[in-house]
Amino acid sequence: MNVSRIYFSPTGTTDKITGQVAEGLGGTVKDYNITLLKDRAKFKGLTFNSTDVVIVGVPVYSGRIPAFLSEIFSTLKGDGTLAIFTVMYGHRNYDDALLELKNIFEARGFKGIAAGAFIGEHSFTEKVATGRPDADDLSMALKFGKDCSVALKKLESNGKYELNVKGNFPYKERSQSQPMAPQTNDSCNNCGICAENCPVEAIDFKDFRKVDAEKCIRCCSCIKKCPENAKAFNNDAFAKSVQWLMTNCTSVRKEPELFMLSSH
Ligand SMILES: Cc1cc2nc3c(=O)[nH]c(=O)nc-3n(C[C@H](O)[C@H](O)[C@H](O)COP(=O)(O)O)c2cc1C
Ligand code: SF4
Ligand code: SF4
Repeated sequence: MNVSRIYFSPTGTTDKITGQVAEGLGGTVKDYNITLLKDRAKFKGLTFNSTDVVIVGVPVYSGRIPAFLSEIFSTLKGDGTLAIFTVMYGHRNYDDALLELKNIFEARGFKGIAAGAFIGEHSFTEKVATGRPDADDLSMALKFGKDCSVALKKLESNGKYELNVKGNFPYKERSQSQPMAPQTNDSCNNCGICAENCPVEAIDFKDFRKVDAEKCIRCCSCIKKCPENAKAFNNDAFAKSVQWLMTNCTSVRKEPELFMLSSH
């Protein structure tokens, strides 16, 4: 079994969960980390065949998959390639993201066999879904991978299968908000880590304080990765979103939701 892992993960939670799923699945795993722009360019046009199994993982942005990923996804091609779809969300809701991911890949020659919505610490604040995925989440993801491996072995080549996941079509409208960019304070030591890790190259490579608000997707990679805590969104709209999340999304612990193939 040739296992490939395709994932986008600015703050690392999608990486952790898809890594566990891959480990549970077993076999040799080839990683396609599409977090950085240069790697998305490199991995454009990848093709997979019927002996490949692909694990796809993306974070949920506004109840959907991150919009700009459609560009690379629309260049990938499967040929009856079996796929496991995963989304990571920050304890609000994953809305239609899992269905959207499944539909995009199934339209391109992949066949879903399992899917999961997992919880990761919210990109905007460490106060929502703090420390998730935690040890329980990770062992669930590992077991999910093992269950997928068992399910794969039982698949009959000519059987009729259908993977059903939660979500609605037409998909939820993405919320439109004003362009914004993180500010940089005086603790900045010009290490460049933020610019190297920005998924859309919104941070100037020569002046790390200069951020293009039109490009910024608010992934918070620069904020969470800065060793000096020098970057932050300091505007009212962002503070209001964080406040809303803390009020509405912290009371009850949510658990991962898993979907397996049913045959008929
Ligand atoms: C722009 C943006 C929008 C987000 N929208 C949602 C959302 O609709 N629902 C939710 O529960 N979490 C949302 N999140 C939180 C992320 O889905 C979550 O923190 C995820 O674990 C991040 O994945 P990563 O660590 O791989 O970057 C959003 C995060 C960002 C940056
Ligand atoms: S990661 Fe932080 S300290 Fe390093 S250049 Fe960026 S803002 Fe400055
Ligand atoms: S500048 Fe914006 S897009 Fe780039 S890492 Fe920071 S939050 Fe993410």
